[in-house]
Amino acid sequence: MVRTTYLEITSKAQWIRRSRPETGLDIRECLVKQPQFNRFLYEYIGRDWKWTFRLSWSPERWNAYASAENLRTFVAYQGGSIAGYYELRRDEDGVEIRILGLAPGFIGRGHGGPLLDHAIETAFGWGASRVWLHTCTDDHQNALNNYCKSGFAIFKVENETADESSASAG
Ligand SMILES: CC(C)(COP(=O)(O)OP(=O)(O)OC[C@H]1O[C@@H](n2cnc3c(N)ncnc32)[C@H](O)[C@@H]1OP(=O)(O)O)[C@@H](O)C(=O)NCCC(=O)NCCS
Repeated sequence: MVRTTYLEITSKAQWIRRSRPETGLDIRECLVKQPQFNRFLYEYIGRDWKWTFRLSWSPERWNAYASAENLRTFVAYQGGSIAGYYELRRDEDGVEIRILGLAPGFIGRGHGGPLLDHAIETAFGWGASRVWLHTCTDDHQNALNNYCKSGFAIFKVENETADESSASAG
């Protein structure tokens, strides 16, 4: 059974900032759309977390997804190496943190809060009145807590079998 939890922040007042300047993440937006880079990030960051669904996407589907005007990609670097990334997607429901993760070797060292802060700040700066996301029990054990510590509130929980979950993920 896979449990997916949906969370939201509906005002800046709800957001609990957790940035730590000393973590030294250099977070840059990928201003030139490179769908193959999104695919690389998804595979690299998600390989330990069963992020397999999008690996079956065709190049055309990756192009349509990552080149869309309402999709933005941000990569966190430390010492020039990839420390993590996130994607934001804007639609009529607000801005979704479509995906967020740290690279192997950067997990459990206090980077989750600053990366999430950057995503929330960018989402509000993009005009969001609501920032939302979902996480499932296949994700890292810190993921749900990471979102709750930043002020996200749960608005929906779904339980699915592993088969249903892999069919709908991504
Ligand atoms: C979810 C994820 C971003 C959370 O990041 P994390 O590194 O595991 O957790 P955090 O950075 O929040 O660290 C947790 C706590 O460890 C402590 N900590 C551990 N080492 C630390 C250090 N070197 N410096 C400071 N705090 C540290 C802190 O108390 C921190 O909590 P705080 O920021 O509220 O003080 C990360 O686990 C991840 O990317 N996982 C894989 C992909 C995934 O599951 N993504 C979620 C998909 S929805």
